[in-house]
Amino acid sequence: MSNKIESHLVEDRVFKPTKEFSSKARISSMAQYKKLWQESVDKPETFWAREAKELEWRAKWTKVLDWKAPDAKWFVGGKLNVCENCVDRHAKGSRRNKAAIIFEGEPGDRQVITYAQLHRAVCRFANVLLAKGVKSKDRVLVYMPMIPEAAIAMLACARIGAVHSVVFGGFSSESIVDRLEDSGATHVVTADGGWRRGKIVPLKDNVDEALKKYKGIKSVVVFKRTGQEISMAKGRDTWWHDEIEQVSAKHEAKAFDSEHPLFILYTSGSTGKPKGILHTSGGYLTGTYVTCKYVFDMQDDDVYWCTADVGWITGHSYIVYGPLAMGVTQVMYEGAPNQPDFGRFWQMIEEYGVSIFYTAPTAIRAFIKAGDHFPAKHDLSSLRLLGSVGEPINPEAWMWYHEKIGGGRCPIVDTWWQTETGAIMITPLPGCTPTKPGTATLPFFGVDAAILDETGQECKANEGGRLVIRKPWPSMTRAIYGDKARYKKTYWSDYKGMYTAGDGARRDKQGNFWIVGRLDDVLNVSGHRLGTAEVESALVGHPAVAEAAVVGRPDDLKGQAVVAFVTLKAGIPESPALQKELREHVGKVIGAIAKPDDLHFAPALPKTRSGKIMRRLLKELVTTGTVSGNTTTLEDFSVIANLQEKIAGAK
Ligand code: WTA
Repeated sequence: MSNKIESHLVEDRVFKPTKEFSSKARISSMAQYKKLWQESVDKPETFWAREAKELEWRAKWTKVLDWKAPDAKWFVGGKLNVCENCVDRHAKGSRRNKAAIIFEGEPGDRQVITYAQLHRAVCRFANVLLAKGVKSKDRVLVYMPMIPEAAIAMLACARIGAVHSVVFGGFSSESIVDRLEDSGATHVVTADGGWRRGKIVPLKDNVDEALKKYKGIKSVVVFKRTGQEISMAKGRDTWWHDEIEQVSAKHEAKAFDSEHPLFILYTSGSTGKPKGILHTSGGYLTGTYVTCKYVFDMQDDDVYWCTADVGWITGHSYIVYGPLAMGVTQVMYEGAPNQPDFGRFWQMIEEYGVSIFYTAPTAIRAFIKAGDHFPAKHDLSSLRLLGSVGEPINPEAWMWYHEKIGGGRCPIVDTWWQTETGAIMITPLPGCTPTKPGTATLPFFGVDAAILDETGQECKANEGGRLVIRKPWPSMTRAIYGDKARYKKTYWSDYKGMYTAGDGARRDKQGNFWIVGRLDDVLNVSGHRLGTAEVESALVGHPAVAEAAVVGRPDDLKGQAVVAFVTLKAGIPESPALQKELREHVGKVIGAIAKPDDLHFAPALPKTRSGKIMRRLLKELVTTGTVSGNTTTLEDFSVIANLQEKIAGAK
């Protein structure tokens, strides 16, 4: 990390969009951005209402915002159907036969779905859900591979007012159980499996395992993707292809309240189990739509590709809702970036003429490692705009992306946002913002971002502090599902009336925001949020483990790697086999992304005299190899000395 911060501090290369790009962009000068930004934070309601009007509302709102911190209602009294905005609007109009989704499966199968076809598919699946007895506000768990049916299932839920809760296909059956229990879901949509690096991810088996523990599920609809043998529970499980045969392709969408719940998506926090972030309809759709319009500057002839999975917020906002609300053509890909080799993405960009490409720094770093000859083999001249999301992008990765992928001509939008913010918050606008490698630059319209110190004062230029948003915005989360107190405490209690993001940041003299990383016990592993508490609780759940402490260390590829310190129960011997078993155990409880990269046995953990584990010291130890910070509160220094030796020995 120290190296990265160092290079951030000295970074002074500035890249401006080309005249060619600017002349065609919606926002083409800094003067235009500044004027509109000022207006948008002086009078956010005027700005957001003007943008929201571009969507299709069945009933106009009576009030733009009802704000009593931390409770926001946007477009009060307004009624709309989110799915109708993403699908029907285009299917009925001039985009009827335009490709909505160009899909490529990992094995190489392809499918093009037009807006009219998407409309019929979504209507059919909405009718299937209705036939299963799904009602407005019921929770439907979606556990799917990255295939068009994942988006179809989500849109069908939105269409009938059901609340989807998508679980990333890489999560384990135990993670499914937690999410089922917390959301009280009554229905599941899944597939037999999905393809990942040539292997089948056994999605249905995982669901079966979960449903042994959670009894509240009335139906499971299974899409046939991989075709291997799976078990189907009588009376509960049915095939997608059988179900859609039995229903009509016509469905009249009803209008729902602007604040009708749209989805719950679980994300990691610093304590306890993942929290269910709740998003609602009108405001969320407005936020995702408007950011697609200005940040990606989507035009009708663009071919857009976001490489995220629908299991994460990026997939929700920038594969499903935003781009479809814009009526753009997008590419969707099922599998891994290195299947069959690291040329897959570049080959697809060439093949489909992708013009806007949105990916994560962790992927870029993997491509750099794989070698320049992979992108060099392909014609990437269709690209006009690149995006980055998920973690701070290190200047080296930024430069490589700019030169090797963008051919030096494509602006890069480094977009900072979160599951909770619903849409992009801090970002360059591609037609005007001067970019520097490593900064997400300036706040988006309507976003009043600031960096505060502990007393609530705004930090001076280049001084590090906490990132906050001082005014509500339409796509902000409305709640942690079922836990109002936690919502208030987590996001709205540090500074009165302001949202605390949990990230540390600084602003340079030009006002650019440099995001440093999480301030809480949340790791960012390959752009995915992971709570250290979650991993610790998984480890302690193993019968051999007495105690565990988990911290992150910098990793060239993943951004952060997971390091676990484990104290075994008395009498249990340390062994490489047990080390392996514990790593696998975490994989089984949470999912493969949570498996500790390093697992050290520790006869004891460093603690304060009152018995608190000092993770700060462990973090320093795994980052620098020694501990130089304040250790006066440590109960027994020999514990640290001991671990220091161990870590040095493991290298
Ligand atoms: C980090 C992903 C720096 C940040 C959309 C945030 C970033 C967390 C960036 C949210 C960026 C995301 N630069 N850091 N461009 N984008 N982050 O909820 O720490 O999965 O708080 O949302 O990722 O992760 P989440």
